[in-house]
Parts: sequence; C-alpha cells; structure tokens
Amino acid sequence: MNDRLAVTPRTPEVRSRLPTVGTTIFTVMSALAQEHDAVNLGQGFPDFGCDPALIDAVDAAMRSGLNQYPPMTGLPILRERIAAKIEALYGARYDPVTEITVTAGATQAIITAVLALVGPGDEVIILDPCYDSYAPSVTLAGGRPVHVPLTPRTFAPDWERIAAALSPQTRAIVVNSPHNPSGTVWSEADLVQLAELLRPTDVVVISDEVYEHMVFEGEHRSMARTPELAARSIVVSSFGKTYHVTGWKIAYVAAPALLSAEFRKVHQFNVFTVNTPMQHGIATFMAEPRHHLELPAFYRVKRDRFRAALAPTRLKLLPCEGTYFQCVDFSAASGLGDIDFCRWLTTEVGVAAIPISAFYVDGFDERIARFCFAKKDETLALAAERLARL
Ligand SMILES: Cc1ncc(COP(=O)(O)O)c(C=O)c1O
Repeated sequence: MNDRLAVTPRTPEVRSRLPTVGTTIFTVMSALAQEHDAVNLGQGFPDFGCDPALIDAVDAAMRSGLNQYPPMTGLPILRERIAAKIEALYGARYDPVTEITVTAGATQAIITAVLALVGPGDEVIILDPCYDSYAPSVTLAGGRPVHVPLTPRTFAPDWERIAAALSPQTRAIVVNSPHNPSGTVWSEADLVQLAELLRPTDVVVISDEVYEHMVFEGEHRSMARTPELAARSIVVSSFGKTYHVTGWKIAYVAAPALLSAEFRKVHQFNVFTVNTPMQHGIATFMAEPRHHLELPAFYRVKRDRFRAALAPTRLKLLPCEGTYFQCVDFSAASGLGDIDFCRWLTTEVGVAAIPISAFYVDGFDERIARFCFAKKDETLALAAERLARL
C-alpha cells in the first residue's frame, strides 16, 4: 500500500491578517429578517430593478462580441464620459487617459488606494461611524487606522479632534460625504477646514463619494470642486449606487496623474481590469446625463414619503440630507441598546434596521438605527404600516 494514503490530510494553521473580523451585523440582520419574514430596510441596496435600457446596452455589447479584456484602466469611451460628467458637474477637468480609472466597485477602489499609499507604520484617519471596509483595508496594508469620532448626534466632523489626530505618520484621511450611515453631508465650511488643516502636510484625501447623486439640499460638494483639495484627493464614485446595480460592482476613481499612476500600479495586480460588456453598457447609458441628474428627485420622493409615514411615531427622525439612509433616534420608543432594539424590531415588529453602533470601532451606542429607503413604494408602505405602532 502506498504510505502516502495513511497520512491524515491537514490544512495548515494560518495567522489571520484580520483576527478581529467576523460575521458582520449586516449578515446577521439579513438572516434574521429572512427568518422572521421582516421587511428588510437594513440592507443598503435597492429592491427594484435598473433601467431596462441599461440592461439592453450591456446585452448588446455582449452579443456583439465585446467580451475580451478591456484596457487595464478602463474603456477609453467610459473614461471620457466620466471625465465629461465630472467637468459638467464640478468644473474640474480630469484627463481620461492619465487621471480616471474604472474599478471593480468602490470597495476595490478604496483598498487599492490604501495599498498604493500606505505602508507599515503609516497612519490613516478614519471618521467613525463609517463604512466597514476602511479600517481593514488600512490594516491589510500594514498601516494603523486612527479612528476619530464624528460629533455625536450631528455627525459633523470634529475639527479639533481631527487636527489632534494628525501626526507626521498620517498618510491619508478617508472622507465620506454624503455619509453612510448618517445621511449627513459636509458643509462648505468643512471643506475649507479640511483644506486648511492639510495645507502644510502631504496627507492624501481618499474621498468616498459613492452617494454623490443622492444629495437633497443644494449640490454635492465633491473634492473635485476645490482645486486645492482635488490636487490631493482620490475621488471614488460607484455606478452600482447611481444606476441601481450594486451587484455589478463597477465604480471609478478620479485623481491627479501622480496619484493615479500609483493607484494603477496596484490596480493592475489586484483586478487588472473590469468586465468589458458592463463598461460598454454603462458608457452608452451615461451618454444621457438625465440618468444621474434625475436621481436626487427620485430618492427625495422616497425619503419624504418614508419620513411622513414615520412622523407620527415615537421614532425621532434625524436629518437626511443625502444617501438613501434615514436614521432615527428610538430612545422614546424603547429602552434597549441599539443592537437589541434592531433585533427586537426585526423579530417583533417585522422591520429590519441596522444599529449605528456597528459602524463604530468602539461600538458607541447613541440609540440610533438606520433604515434604507431605496425600496419599492409598496415595501416602504408595508414597513411604515408595521412601524406605525411604535
Ligand atoms: C460609503 C460606502 N462606500 C462604498 C460602498 C461600496 O460600494 P461598491 O459596492 O461600489 O463597492 C458602500 C456600499 O454600501 C458605501 O455605503
């Protein structure tokens, strides 16, 4: 008998690069929602379809044989359309050849930016509460996430604390406006403060602007609008959010040539490029600016309807200036902490939400829950009917 057959197969032990990462609250709440047949307003994505014209454009690209590798940085026509959009909206001219890169979603763009900029010993300022990929991206790069809380309740940047967190090791700050989970947007004064604070430094801004087309009051304040900030920013946007196709995982980065060159060195070895037919389809669809220009009005109606339905309840509505998230202070309706409240809401009331403490490194709990209103009118109506008893 072959001796080798007697050997017990053994998978080697590994030293986890992310030892504290486990199952996220999003997975937990979604499973609970399914188990209890709850209306799922926890998940941050639409339950409605995209424009059929977008599907047709992708289908046409696939059927006409556009299925092989595109250029590493993205299809030229798509990069040109992205540059044209940014110029039309924010007055900044990015060179599509050297300054725009198409990515496999915003999450990939963010980790790519971090890996390109951050090394062992470097620090990255992260403003809590925040999207959950920022800190692990920094950790994987060997850097140290420096968590600075936003101001409790208002979620405004706390400039004193941010200034205090800046050090000679700071390589980058991650900024997200419109903000997930709070739905707040940065003011013009915040951009002025950021520019002043960073002026004497070499700190890069990784600006997560995936909700750029969901701003309900005034216009989106992209880093691209302010030349001083644009010169040190990697601006990230996501077609998944803008065109109701989060599962397509396609986004882009706009950054000055110097930063884009470093970004592309990493991009070329973690995904190399992004699928061809989707790029063609989106380029065709983007030719009509109304597809992104009409988005604020589309979501404003949903926001207003959802807020009106919740107004008579004991849930206190927090301002929602952007994104498709509505936060509520539930402290008048329940004495529970936010995780327990969201569990209770899912199992007993039949509506799933996400506790805001899940977005803080230290689990800071202000008894606020987040609902996603990127849902069909009937989904929102059913949720409102159930929440009416609170
Ligand atoms: C703030 C923020 N950034 C990035 C993403 C991820 O975008 P993508 O699906 O394009 O990776 C999300 C998705 O929820 C988000 O809320």
